[in-house]
Amino acid sequence: MSGSDDAGATGSVREWLRGLEVFAGPLADFDPGDAPAEPVALFLGWLREAIAAGVPDAHAMTVSTVGQDGGPDARVLILKNVDFNGWQFAAHGNSPKGRQLADLPRASLTFYWPLQGRQVRVRGTVEPQTPEQSAPDLLARAPSARAEVLVGRQSDHLDSPEERDQVLGTALARIEAEPTLVSPAWTLYTLIPVEIEFWQADKDRIHKRLRYERSDHHGSWQRHLLWP
Ligand SMILES: Cc1cc2nc3c(=O)[nH]c(=O)nc-3n(C[C@H](O)[C@H](O)[C@H](O)COP(=O)(O)O)c2cc1C
Repeated sequence: MSGSDDAGATGSVREWLRGLEVFAGPLADFDPGDAPAEPVALFLGWLREAIAAGVPDAHAMTVSTVGQDGGPDARVLILKNVDFNGWQFAAHGNSPKGRQLADLPRASLTFYWPLQGRQVRVRGTVEPQTPEQSAPDLLARAPSARAEVLVGRQSDHLDSPEERDQVLGTALARIEAEPTLVSPAWTLYTLIPVEIEFWQADKDRIHKRLRYERSDHHGSWQRHLLWP
């Protein structure tokens, strides 16, 4: 796109983007001095506030992994659960992210809740649950979503939409005939954190940042303020 061209308005893309407001607020408050000794309750409190305020898809997060070429890769997934073990998401074990996690079981999660001006970053190692532990998550999904999982070709090149519809139709018929049918490749993953950062935007750009850190999965949490 040329400098004089943009997405429909006048001026350059740079000016167009610079004119957009960020952290429009009203922003939430965060006093790191009041933060609890462990982070799960704080995370759930922020998630609850985002949902109550109407942030769309507040339980969606960017899951970043390391690609098989050594470069980063990232996509949005739904958060399935959080407890004292960690943060859970679900995916096909043979999808690109599933293969990446099999090679290198480490990931980071990024949440952004714009109505509050809040970001949460979680880093750690990832443990797959067994097919038996993962099956109830899959059975709770819509039959069409389960059919896609049964086919198991997520992110492959799609050469023929007709073939897709035919293959998905066959898988759906199998599921309708056998309602408990699940693909053993569907996997619930638990990210066990070693770092969790709570980031609160500030109108004056003195953003408040608090990171919980621990050296291993069973260690106790240390809390550190970070420079904005
Ligand atoms: C809001 C949202 C939620 C999503 N939730 C999931 C999910 O829970 N599991 C999943 O496998 N893909 C989910 N996806 C699709 C992924 O972003 C991605 O396209 C897909 O999993 C293929 O990723 P991969 O090629 O890195 O394996 C979601 C996408 C969006 C936009």
